[in-house]
Amino acid sequence: MQLLALVSLLPFFAALVQGCGDHAHDHSHEKRAFPVTALTPPTRALEWGDLNIIHTTDSHGWLLGHQKTSFPEPNYSGDLGDFASFVSHMKQLALEKDVDLLLVDSGDLHDGTGLSDGFPPGGVDGHESNKFLAKLPYDLMSIGNHELYIYANTLDMFQNFAPQLKGRYLSSNVNITVADKHGKPQSVPVGSRFAKFKTRKGRKVTSLGVLFDFTDNDKNTTVQKVSDMVQEKWFFDAIQEEPDLFLLVGHMPVQRDDWPLVFNAVRKVHPTTPILILGGHSHIRDCVQLDGRSMSLESGRYMETVGWMSANLDKKGSKKNITFSRRYLDPNRVTYEFHTRTRNASFDTSSGKSITQGLLQLAEKFDLNFKFGTAPQDFTIDRSPFPSNSSLLSLYAAEAMPVALTINNTRASIPNIMITNSGSQRFDVYAGAFTKNDQLTASPFADSFLFIPNITAGVAKQVLPALNNAGAENRKRALEELLEGRERELYKKGYVDMIFRKWLEEMDRRDGLERRAGQNLTLGYVTKDSCPGVGDDVVHAPLPFFETPDFIGSNAPNVTDDTPIDLVFVDFIEDQLLSILNSLQTAKNFTTTDVQSYTPVLASAVLGLFAQKAWN
Ligand SMILES: *[C@@H]1O[C@H](CO)[C@@H](O)[C@H](O)[C@H]1NC(C)=O
Ligand SMILES: *[C@@H]1O[C@H](CO)[C@@H](O)[C@H](O)[C@H]1NC(C)=O
Ligand SMILES: *[C@@H]1O[C@H](CO)[C@@H](O)[C@H](O)[C@H]1NC(C)=O
Ligand SMILES: *[C@@H]1O[C@H](CO)[C@@H](O)[C@H](O)[C@H]1NC(C)=O
Ligand SMILES: *[C@@H]1O[C@H](CO)[C@@H](O)[C@H](O)[C@H]1NC(C)=O
Ligand SMILES: *[C@@H]1O[C@H](CO)[C@@H](O)[C@H](O)[C@H]1NC(C)=O
Ligand SMILES: *[C@@H]1O[C@H](CO)[C@@H](O)[C@H](O)[C@H]1NC(C)=O
Ligand SMILES: *[C@@H]1O[C@H](CO)[C@@H](O)[C@H](O)[C@H]1NC(C)=O
Ligand SMILES: *[C@@H]1O[C@H](CO)[C@@H](O)[C@H](O)[C@H]1NC(C)=O
Ligand SMILES: *[C@@H]1O[C@H](CO)[C@@H](O)[C@H](O)[C@H]1NC(C)=O
Ligand SMILES: *[C@@H]1O[C@H](CO)[C@@H](O)[C@H](O)[C@H]1NC(C)=O
Ligand SMILES: [Zn+2]
Ligand SMILES: [Zn+2]
Repeated sequence: MQLLALVSLLPFFAALVQGCGDHAHDHSHEKRAFPVTALTPPTRALEWGDLNIIHTTDSHGWLLGHQKTSFPEPNYSGDLGDFASFVSHMKQLALEKDVDLLLVDSGDLHDGTGLSDGFPPGGVDGHESNKFLAKLPYDLMSIGNHELYIYANTLDMFQNFAPQLKGRYLSSNVNITVADKHGKPQSVPVGSRFAKFKTRKGRKVTSLGVLFDFTDNDKNTTVQKVSDMVQEKWFFDAIQEEPDLFLLVGHMPVQRDDWPLVFNAVRKVHPTTPILILGGHSHIRDCVQLDGRSMSLESGRYMETVGWMSANLDKKGSKKNITFSRRYLDPNRVTYEFHTRTRNASFDTSSGKSITQGLLQLAEKFDLNFKFGTAPQDFTIDRSPFPSNSSLLSLYAAEAMPVALTINNTRASIPNIMITNSGSQRFDVYAGAFTKNDQLTASPFADSFLFIPNITAGVAKQVLPALNNAGAENRKRALEELLEGRERELYKKGYVDMIFRKWLEEMDRRDGLERRAGQNLTLGYVTKDSCPGVGDDVVHAPLPFFETPDFIGSNAPNVTDDTPIDLVFVDFIEDQLLSILNSLQTAKNFTTTDVQSYTPVLASAVLGLFAQKAWN
């Protein structure tokens, strides 16, 4: 959890990633391999009910799965083609069992990998990758906040994506403004506000697709507060008729958010109708039951989790608790084959294979396999102590910035200290080829670097610790008022990393040491939610979790305290840095007029430039 850095993390969401220029064409054309590592299968079958749901959320472009060989990445190695094969075998099983099976997604299809973000100039984020998602037989999808940071992305969803779902792309409280027939601006729902349909078994379903109270959406998109939405006449009308079940999909965490507003509004009219909720956004595995005839499930992030929910729906009017089950699957071919009783040779469907092929071709078209160098080992964000040789934050701050930012730079010979925020790194870097896709995934924020010349080394050295002290103070306060006050503001802007990291920390603190020492468990997520029984499909030992500072910097140069040096920093933290600098000395009141551009190299290019020099 970070606070000062939180502020500087906001571009995370507007992650407009620059292409990587015209590097020499050193294609490595790594082909996606079937998992080479022997993966252990799950040990227990899924519990099927009358109504069953396969759930995805927050896929953020991870449609080729996780392809690195360092653990636990192989656990998440299933790609969208594998998932499509899985879904079609599961549909077949549902037919054999004569039960319903629905496929549902809770949003955030944009921002995360090269497949979504590595488009050439003039393209639209997610436009190509979403074509593959549209090939899956989704029954319902709902809009996420990452569909709304950039108007062009929302427009693409409105014009090209939503129509393919034929009324089942839901945006109950999200509108887009477009020109009407006469050229006049008109606000209309991006998808549908609700959907009513019958399942194959004839069950009547009423669905909504709700987004949390998001405030950082682009102009010409509108997010209505959930508390206002439930007062709308259309909402009231939509829920009047009693279906066999309400299926509420939405981009909203199942805990600590506004689901109860929607749930209570429905419950007021229908005290016993089953309500199934499928949420997302905070990137964790979670489950809660708002009452005995309802279950809410959230299925992680980045195609690291496929969620399963089943319910045995009883007679209308029953007041008894419904029997639900839920499971968090590690998406890989072994998991998929286990649950569909197929083998490697019988698993792939032709549609699944063609999705995989298409995604590989897209990766090639976007040049995502362009190789900067070979990472000698894993560099992780939360899993390594800071500072350390295996910390990505140490690598970026102490090694990569000093190399990349001084390339072709006339100030290279002047001693310096370089500072950035730790939130600038989004995903771990793993041993092996470091490609354009890896760079887009790990370090996507296209921020620039500034500097103030002639700061004495004695003062400059105090800046980083002072920034982190201020950050720690704020963090303590933030913990106390989680999701209140200032933090609530950031939450509304879409910042949820604090919840994800707290989840990781808790699973490690609970029994991480013990489980890892046992050596009979493999690494992965260890979920403790508030639904009965064990949720994880494969029992794991959690990854170690280490605290990291909010700000990171290069090592101070070995010069005397009175030596004038360059204080270099990422533009994102300019305000905080100036105020800290002015609190550390009184000789001069530094303002933005003292700040200059240090290099045209952007933060998102640093790892690649470093890899070209150091990892070849
Ligand atoms: C998950 O990863 C571990 C290594 O941490 C591996 O041994 C295990 O077989 C994997 N499990 C599945 C279901 O893929
Ligand atoms: C919003 O969209 C309308 C219709 O396309 C357009 O006329 C208007 O200029 C847009 N407003 C902004 C602030 O971009
Ligand atoms: C969304 O669009 C509908 C249909 O045009 C309109 O009636 C409604 O007022 C809009 N809602 C918001 C919050 O803009
Ligand atoms: C029904 O479910 C509710 C909520 O999960 C629980 O509090 C209650 O004890 C359950 N009742 C029975 C009879 O199991
Ligand atoms: C699985 O099947 C594919 C072809 O569908 C084949 O290329 C691959 O080698 C097989 N893997 C194993 C472990 O048998
Ligand atoms: C880190 O790397 C340096 C240089 O390669 C080496 O001397 C040092 O022992 C390493 N430290 C750890 C903790 O591995
Ligand atoms: C540095 O200059 C060389 C020679 O002009 C050029 O080829 C290279 O692209 C430049 N590198 C960067 C990062 O600007
Ligand atoms: C650098 O700063 C020192 C005092 O901190 C001042 O005396 C000196 O004139 C400055 N030099 C330049 C080139 O600004
Ligand atoms: C695995 O190790 C843990 C921790 O040492 C232990 O509690 C558990 O019983 C072991 N499980 C198996 C299946 O051996
Ligand atoms: C720092 O510089 C001094 C003087 O040039 C030198 O004696 C010392 O060894 C250097 N220390 C390091 C860690 O390089
Ligand atoms: C420093 O400069 C800023 C911007 O001009 C100004 O707002 C602030 O009051 C100044 N502080 C002092 C102590 O002079
Ligand atoms: Zn997300
Ligand atoms: Zn989100």
